[in-house]
Amino acid sequence: MSFSSWYNRSLNKVWGFVEDRTAMKKWALRPQPEFTFKPSYWTGSFVAVALSYQIISGALLLLYYQPSTNPTLTACGQAVGSLSSAPAAWCSTYYIVNSVPMGQLLLSSHLYGAYAMIFLMFVHFFRGYYVGVYKSPREFSWMVGTLLMVVTMGMGFTGYLLPYTQISYNATNVGVVLALRLPTVGPLLGPFILADGTSQGLLSRMFDAHVILLPIALAGLFYAHFALFESHGIAPPATSDPLQRRRFTEKEEKGHVPFIPHVLLYTMKWGLLYVGILFGIAALWPWNLPTYVGNTAAAAVVTEPDWYFLWVFKLVDFAGVTPVIAIGVTNVLLVYILFLPFLDRSKRTHPRDRPFFIYLATCMLGFLILMTVWGGETPGVQITDPAIAMTLGPIFAVNAVVVALFHYRYHRSYQRRLAARKSAFAGNYPRSVSSRAGGPAAAAEVRGVE
Ligand code: HEM
Repeated sequence: MSFSSWYNRSLNKVWGFVEDRTAMKKWALRPQPEFTFKPSYWTGSFVAVALSYQIISGALLLLYYQPSTNPTLTACGQAVGSLSSAPAAWCSTYYIVNSVPMGQLLLSSHLYGAYAMIFLMFVHFFRGYYVGVYKSPREFSWMVGTLLMVVTMGMGFTGYLLPYTQISYNATNVGVVLALRLPTVGPLLGPFILADGTSQGLLSRMFDAHVILLPIALAGLFYAHFALFESHGIAPPATSDPLQRRRFTEKEEKGHVPFIPHVLLYTMKWGLLYVGILFGIAALWPWNLPTYVGNTAAAAVVTEPDWYFLWVFKLVDFAGVTPVIAIGVTNVLLVYILFLPFLDRSKRTHPRDRPFFIYLATCMLGFLILMTVWGGETPGVQITDPAIAMTLGPIFAVNAVVVALFHYRYHRSYQRRLAARKSAFAGNYPRSVSSRAGGPAAAAEVRGVE
C-alpha cells in the first residue's frame, strides 16, 4: 500500500470516529463549492490565521510585559548601564528579548505577524474590490470588513508604543497630535487618549486599547463578518451577466464539499505554512530593540511610524498639507470604501464592466505604494508642489490610459464571444447563467463568455 493511500485511509478512519461522536457535519460551517479550493477565495481566512497567531503570541508576551513608565532597577538596568532612567515598559521588553527562552523569537514573530496580518488584510480588501464581492447581497459584509480594517490599524497604532522606544514614542505623538487637531472630534478625543496628560497616562491608554478595548471590538466585528459570510456563502466568480445570481441554491449546495474537514484542512495547510515562514523570518532576522524613551546618551532618533502608516505620515510633508488635511484625506478614503457598495450600483461584477471604480482602486493602490516607499525613504523631508505633481501625476494619468485600453479591448472581445455564442444557440440563448444546472462556474464554462 502506498503512503498516500495509507494516509488517506487513516485520515478517513480518524475523521469517521470524530464525526460519529460529534455529528459535526450538522453544525459545522456551510459546505463550499470545489472550485473555491484556490488561495484567492480564502484570503480572509489567511487574515484570520494571522489574527489567531497574534492572539496567542500576544497572550504569551503579556506574561512578562509591564505597562509602566516608572524607572526600574531590575532586569535590564545593568545591561543598559543607566539604572535610574530606563522605563519598566522598555525594560520588560528588553527582558523578553534577552532573558526569556525563545523570547526574541516570540516578540519578533508577534511584530512581523502584525505586518503580515495587515498586508494580508490589504490583499483581502483589494481582491474583494477588484472582483466586486461587495455587491448585493454582501454590502454589510463589506461594511463590517471596513470597520475591521480600522480596528486592525488601531491595533497596530496602539501596539507600536508598548515597547516604549524613543522612535515609537515620537511617532505615536505625531499620530496623537493628528487626532487631536481634528475639528470638533479632536478636543473630545483628548481625555480618552491622553488620560491625565502624563506619559504614563498615554501608555496606559494605549495598553488598554491594545489588549482589551480593540480586541473586544475585533472579536465582535469578526463574529458579525463571519456570520454574514456564513449566511450568504462564498461569492461566485465575477461575471458580466447582470442576471447572475449571487448565491447558490440549496440544491447546488448539496453537491458542495463539507467545510469540516475539507475546507478546514485546506486553510490549515496554508496556516501552517504561514506560521513556518513567520518563524523562519523571525529567526533569521530577529527584531532588535531600539533605545528607550528619554535616553539622553543616545543620538537623535528619526521619527517614523510602522510601514502601514508611512503613507499618511508622508502626506504631512507635502507643501500646504496640514495635519487636519491629512486626517481629512484619510477619512474621505475610509468613507468612500465604507459606502462603495452603494456607490457602484451596476449589477455586473466583472472588473471589465466597472472601469471607473477599477480606475479608482488602481489609483488608490498606486498612491498607497508610492507614498509608503517615499515615506520610508525620506521621512520628514518637505515636498514641493512641482515634485508632488511630477510624482503622483503620472500614476493617475498612466492608470487612466491602461484601464481605458483594457476596458475597450475586453469589452470588444466579450461582445464578439457573446455574439458567437448567441448564434450557436440559434436564438435559444439562456437568459441567466444561474438557470443552468451545476451553478455559475459550470455555466460559465459551458458558455465560455465570463
Ligand atoms: C481583520 C480583518 C479581516 C478578517 C479577519 C476577515 C476575514 C474574512 C473571512 C474569514 C472571510 C471568509 C472568506 C475568506 O476566507 O476570504 C471573509 C470574507 C469577506 N470579507 Fe473579510 N476579513 C477582514 C477584513 C475585511 C475587509 C477590510 C473587507 C473589505 C472592506 C472585507 C470584506 C469581506 C467580504 C465582502 C467577504 C465575503 C467574500 C466572499 O464571499 O467571497 N473583509 N473575511
